[in-house]
Amino acid sequence: MFNDEQHEMTLSEDGSYTAYSKEYDEHYHSTKDGALHESLVKHVQPAFSLKKMQDEIIILDICYGLGFNTLATLYYHQTNSLSSKLKIYSPELDASLVKSLVYFTYPKEFEVYTDIIKAVSETGVYEDEHIYIEIFLGDAREYVKKFTNKFDIVYQDAFSPSTNPMLWTKEYFKDIKRSIKDDGVLTTYSISLATRLALFENDFNIYLNRGEGYRDATVASPSQLGTFKAVDMKHKIACNPNVKSLRD
Ligand SMILES: C[S@@+](CC[C@H](N)C(=O)[O-])C[C@H]1O[C@@H](n2cnc3c(N)ncnc32)[C@H](O)[C@@H]1O
Repeated sequence: MFNDEQHEMTLSEDGSYTAYSKEYDEHYHSTKDGALHESLVKHVQPAFSLKKMQDEIIILDICYGLGFNTLATLYYHQTNSLSSKLKIYSPELDASLVKSLVYFTYPKEFEVYTDIIKAVSETGVYEDEHIYIEIFLGDAREYVKKFTNKFDIVYQDAFSPSTNPMLWTKEYFKDIKRSIKDDGVLTTYSISLATRLALFENDFNIYLNRGEGYRDATVASPSQLGTFKAVDMKHKIACNPNVKSLRD
């Protein structure tokens, strides 16, 4: 059974289930945007619009949770017939959640990944010719410090800055900056100025991810991206002189 004292499955508006965390008093996805839809439009599609031509794509999925961002990546990769090799690394603090994912009701789009879901849930690793997935059961802050200039894509999908501030601070994004390639791309649902400032203070360029049928989100990169509308951070800061990024 998936539901326990900490987690409860909840139907979201695109028809896919997400979960509610009693510990964090927050859903794992926006119930309004829908779990699968949110994962695709706020993370996978914007990132892959820039990276899909690469032979190998290395992804940091912060944090694994129900695994939607990882699984939606496989789904996008398969439905777009991409030939790139995927390597996905994902920290997750909640070991009992990961173990319980074999009982989670995933959308039909993920049915073909049942063996992958089982392997990841039971052993923390899945590998075949094209895909490598590795879950790290522990603190994302510690995990990120291990890498230097490795990731093409970072899905920044922690619980909200007010609920889980340690994964949104200036110091945290400093470690993320060290772990992402110079032409890497970070995606996040957060549009708060404090989050964008924490990224900007670490020399990320900030872009708006806006589209039909979902709330605005953010794309960031150490490089200039021509395909997204830039957020004029100097102007935003001038209009909000008291804004501060979160700090450790
Ligand atoms: C919003 S959920 C992630 C949703 C996930 N991306 C998905 O698609 O299902 C946030 C996750 O962060 C995990 N978490 C919280 N603090 C963490 C930390 N310091 N290190 C690793 N994982 C953490 C929580 O247990 C939770 O599963």
